[in-house]
Parts: sequence; C-alpha cells; structure tokens
Amino acid sequence: MDLLAFKSLLFLLCFIGCCAGEDILPEGPLDVVLGKNLTVPTLLKNPTYSFIVWNFNNGGHQIHVITIGSEGLSVNTPYEGRVAIDPTNGFLTLTAVKSEDSGDYSINVISSSGATKTEEIAVRVLEPVSAVVIKSNLPEAVEHNDTVILTCSAKGSFLKFSWLKGAAPLVADGKRVSIKDEELSSTLTFVNVLRTDLVGSIICVATNKLETEKSAPFNLTVHHGPDKATISPAKPPQFLQSGSSFNLTCAAASSPPATFNWYHNQKEMKSSGPVLTLAEIEKQGLGRTAEQFTCTATNAKTKRVVASSGVTFAVVDPILGATLTGPTGTLIAGNSTANLTCKAASGTVKTRTWTKDGKPLTPSSRVVFAIDMSSVMINPLQKEDNGEFTCQLTNPVTQSKASYKMVVNYGPEPATVTGETAVEVNDAVTLTCSAASVPAANFTWKFNGTLTNVKTPQYVIEQARYKNTGTYTCEASNPVTKKTTKSTHTMSVKEEGTLNEGLSDGAIAGIVIAILVALGAAIGLIMYCRQKVPVESPY
Ligand SMILES: *[C@@H]1O[C@H](CO)[C@@H](O)[C@H](O)[C@H]1NC(C)=O
Ligand SMILES: *[C@@H]1O[C@H](CO)[C@@H](O)[C@H](O)[C@H]1NC(C)=O
Ligand SMILES: *[C@@H]1O[C@H](CO)[C@@H](O)[C@H](O)[C@H]1NC(C)=O
Ligand SMILES: *[C@@H]1O[C@H](CO)[C@@H](O)[C@H](O)[C@H]1NC(C)=O
Ligand SMILES: *[C@@H]1O[C@H](CO)[C@@H](O)[C@H](O)[C@H]1NC(C)=O
Ligand SMILES: *[C@@H]1O[C@H](CO)[C@@H](O)[C@H](O)[C@H]1NC(C)=O
Ligand SMILES: *[C@@H]1O[C@H](CO)[C@@H](O)[C@H](O)[C@H]1NC(C)=O
Ligand SMILES: *[C@@H]1O[C@H](CO)[C@@H](O)[C@H](O)[C@H]1NC(C)=O
Repeated sequence: MDLLAFKSLLFLLCFIGCCAGEDILPEGPLDVVLGKNLTVPTLLKNPTYSFIVWNFNNGGHQIHVITIGSEGLSVNTPYEGRVAIDPTNGFLTLTAVKSEDSGDYSINVISSSGATKTEEIAVRVLEPVSAVVIKSNLPEAVEHNDTVILTCSAKGSFLKFSWLKGAAPLVADGKRVSIKDEELSSTLTFVNVLRTDLVGSIICVATNKLETEKSAPFNLTVHHGPDKATISPAKPPQFLQSGSSFNLTCAAASSPPATFNWYHNQKEMKSSGPVLTLAEIEKQGLGRTAEQFTCTATNAKTKRVVASSGVTFAVVDPILGATLTGPTGTLIAGNSTANLTCKAASGTVKTRTWTKDGKPLTPSSRVVFAIDMSSVMINPLQKEDNGEFTCQLTNPVTQSKASYKMVVNYGPEPATVTGETAVEVNDAVTLTCSAASVPAANFTWKFNGTLTNVKTPQYVIEQARYKNTGTYTCEASNPVTKKTTKSTHTMSVKEEGTLNEGLSDGAIAGIVIAILVALGAAIGLIMYCRQKVPVESPY
C-alpha cells in the first residue's frame, strides 16, 4: 500500500467516521400543498463538494432532477424553469408543485476525492382540503324508528375526519352511534335516532397535515312525540256555571306539533284543536251531569297517538231572578195568614234557607215550611212577625237572595199614661200616652170625660191651674184594626210651696207603709216565737 492510497483510505475512513452518524437530509416525509413551492432542505453545513446531484423516484424509475458542480448547473429537461439549488447548502427548490411531484428525492454529495454520500427523503404533495359536505340518507327522520346515516365527503389528500356536535367532539359509542372513516369520506350512523342526537348542529371536520376545513352546520329534523297528553286545568271545579268562560286545554310535546281530539265519556266529540271551550261543550248538549272529558294528541309524522287522563265536572245553570212573594193585602195580627213563596226565574235550586231580620227563621206551630222549603205559611200572624223576611236560593255555582217586608197590623196594646200626679200651680206638665200599635195609634184625650182637641201622644199644660185638677183619659186607636184602648191618669194642682221638693206624696206614703209593714212583721215574729218556745221545750 503506497502512501497516497493510505492517505486516501485514512481520509475516507475519517470522512465516514466523521459523518457516519451525521444525516445530510432531515427526516421525512416532507409535506407540501399542491401549487405551492417545495424546498427540500439539507443538513449540510458549508459543504465542500465536487457535485451535488438530486434525483427523483416516484416508485417506478429514478430520474435526474438537477446537478450542481464546479462547471455549473445541469437541469433535466422536465424540470427546466421550475427547479433551483442553493450552492451554499444544497437546498432543492421546486416551484408550483404538482401531484406528480410526490415521491422520493435523493441527494448525492460527491466529494473531490470521489467519496459519495447518498440519502433520500419522501415528499408528499398534498391536495388542499375542500368541499367538505354532509349529506343525510333521509330528509327527515322519526325518532326511535329511523336510522340516520350522515356522510361527510371532502376533497384533498391524506384526509382525516372528525365530527363535532355544537362545539364538542361527537363521540361514537360503537353501538347506536358509530363512525366509519374512508379515504375521502366518513359516515356517522345513528341507529334508531333520538331527538337529542341531532340537537345542535353537526359539523364535519376534514383535516390533513397542513389544512383544516369544516362543513356547514348540518341539522336534520327528528320528528318525535307526542310523549304525553295533559289537560289543563287537571282538576277543574266540580261544578261550572253554565255560560261562564272556561276552557279545557290539551297539550303534548311533539314535533311536528300534535293535533288534538276530544272525547266525552270515551266517545269522540265533534271538536278538535287544543282548546275545548265550555260554550262548545254546552252547544253539543253535554256536561249536564258529572262527565269525563279526555283528549288525544296525534303526531302526523310519527303516527303516534297518546291519550290524556280524564277530567270531570258538571255544568250547572246559575240561579237568576229570585223573588220572595208574600201577601199583598192588609194583615192583621191574630186574624190573618201569610204564605211566603220563594222562587227563581231560572236555574236549578239546591237549597233554600230562610231568615227573618238576619236570624234563621225557625219552624213552629205557627210557622210551617213546605217540604221543599220553597214556601212558608205563618198562621195566624202575630205582631212578632213584623220585619224583613229573606230567602236565599243556593246551588253549587250561585246563590241568590230575595226579601219581603212583612207588615202585621196589631194593637193598640193597653195604653199607659205617664206623668205627674200632683203639681203646683204654674208648673209645666206633660202627660205622655203610649200604646204599642201598627200602624201607630191615633190618640185622643178627655178631661173629666169631655173630649179635648189634643190628638198628640203628649198632653202638654204650660202653666198648671187649679182647674186642671181632674181625670185625664188617653184613648189610643188603631185605624186598621179599629181597636181602641184607653188609660186614665189623675192629677191634682196644689198651692205653690205645698209639695215637698224632696219627696213626693207617693214616696212619703210608700215610706210610711214600709215602716208599718216592718213593724207589723217584727211584732208578728215576736208573738210567734213566744208561742212556739214553750211548745218545743221538752219540759
Ligand atoms: C415560488 O418560487 C417562485 C420562483 O422562485 C417565486 O416567484 C414565487 O413567488 C414563489 N412562490 C411562493 C408562494 O413562495
Ligand atoms: C338548521 O337550523 C337552522 C337554525 O336552527 C335553520 O335556520 C336551518 O334552516 C336549518 N337547516 C336545515 C337543513 O334544516
Ligand atoms: C277560552 O278560549 C277562548 C277561545 O279560544 C278565549 O277567547 C277565552 O279567552 C278563553 N278563556 C279562558 C278563561 O281562558
Ligand atoms: C315506528 O315503529 C313502530 C313500532 O315498530 C311502528 O308501530 C310505527 O308505525 C312506526 N312509525 C312510523 C312512522 O313508521
Ligand atoms: C177576623 O176574622 C174574622 C173572620 O174572618 C172576622 O169576622 C173579623 O172581623 C176579623 N177581625 C179583624 C179585626 O179583622
Ligand atoms: C203557599 O202558596 C203556594 C203558592 O200559591 C202554594 O203552592 C203553597 O201550597 C202555599 N203554602 C201553604 C203552606 O199554604
Ligand atoms: C190618625 O192620625 C193621622 C195623622 O197622625 C191622620 O192622618 C188620620 O186621619 C188619623 N186617623 C183617625 C182615624 O183619626
Ligand atoms: C173635675 O173633676 C174633679 C174630681 O171629680 C173635680 O174636683 C174638678 O173640679 C173637676 N174639674 C172641672 C173643671 O170640672
């Protein structure tokens, strides 16, 4: 082995030794978007070389791309005008790459000594992501019945698909919801689709290493329901007033909205729509007795029908125009009879109650009610029957009152005169006559048996004279009963100063009598005890 050969070998060993772990190309694959410029970098640092050669291999055969050497560049014809190499680092640049540019690019670095270093890198020309579109196998779906298959298709290379529901990733459970990816599409399958599956928009995302494209939000109507039909009010009043504003409303969650039908005691009514008015019920002649109403909700798309539970009520006519009629003629206590009758112009009366002057009217031998309480007979009438009679007619929806003012003529009852029995001359005197009577009694006064002109209940003497001493007779007469009662009163007019201011004659007489009675009693008691004591003694 000569010295030169040894040196060369040493250099080569050194070259290999130095560069054995040293890559000259980065790791691939290198991705570039179609139409963009491709630069294949090297890891060479200030290389010394005789030639750098770039070749291309698309899997078939290798073709030359470009060579740089001391004599300059050599470009293969197909690459003319679109290839460049950086003499300082060997970077290869290819402008406006085409799909056919995908493949392996190899670099050969040949040193002045003839040593060659070769490496290759895969380059992928990526088609941009575009036309990301979701299509459905069905234009609309029925919940639980249909299987919905959404297909997302896109253009581009090395695509990966993912699905979003709203903003969150859509996760397949592998059973009811599954996702299957292919090269240029992905299918999302909902077996027995649920309404919630497609709530919020579904978006398909197609991605490759360089780009991400989203589809337009996709939504599909999943028809569902009705789940449950409910009538409101669920508990209507037991009785409703005929003609009042009352509605039954049927509701059900449903897509599309349900249609409603109404049933009366299980029989379909001639009514549809969510609202059944009381007016309609009455128009159909229903509801007069407690009866059940139900509704059904129907979904035309899902063909499902659900029935509500029933509500029950009865329609009752209000009581209108209550009247209480009583006798119209003149009534006389002890002689007349009254028959009071309570009636309503319309409506069904359930209960009748009677009051007189606000208190319950109680039956008695004189006050006899009809069995249905619609009338009361009072026989004979008495003065106590004067007053206001009221009857109240009640049913579950209304109550109505009427009243009658009863006037029973009676009296006059025995008249009484109150006033002084003895006065002094010049005293003012008022004698008052009273006698209970309906109508009020007319009064006349007689003095010593002679009729006077006084016709008022009071007999007034402004200044008493001696001649006023005598007997005053008041006569009360009732113009209706034609009865008369009278009362007499004696009054004496005395000399001025003769009457004790403190005690009246009557009072003095009273005191005297009281003393005499007490004295008599005391004497009597003493006499009695005296007689008794010896008798009761055992001796
Ligand atoms: C690609 O390279 C050509 C030629 O060097 C240049 O004119 C063009 O601007 C480059 N395009 C891009 C997108 O860098
Ligand atoms: C999706 O939903 C939006 C709003 O909720 C609506 O405007 C649009 O028409 C729907 N698209 C389809 C295909 O149903
Ligand atoms: C009942 O329904 C009718 C017609 O739908 C409406 O005019 C009325 O106001 C409703 N009445 C009540 C009490 O809701
Ligand atoms: C949905 O499925 C049920 C039960 O299989 C069936 O009775 C019903 O008719 C189906 N509905 C539609 C709209 O096909
Ligand atoms: C009471 O009735 C009787 C018989 O009807 C009649 O004769 C009498 O006059 C009446 N009395 C009064 C005060 O009206
Ligand atoms: C009261 O009068 C009504 C109607 O005139 C009649 O039906 C009823 O029997 C009478 N009642 C009595 C207790 O006489
Ligand atoms: C009773 O008195 C009234 C007025 O107080 C009078 O109008 C009527 O005529 C009198 N009747 C008799 C019968 O005097
Ligand atoms: C009225 O009668 C009384 C007693 O009978 C008699 O004392 C008096 O003088 C009479 N008065 C007149 C005015 O007649």
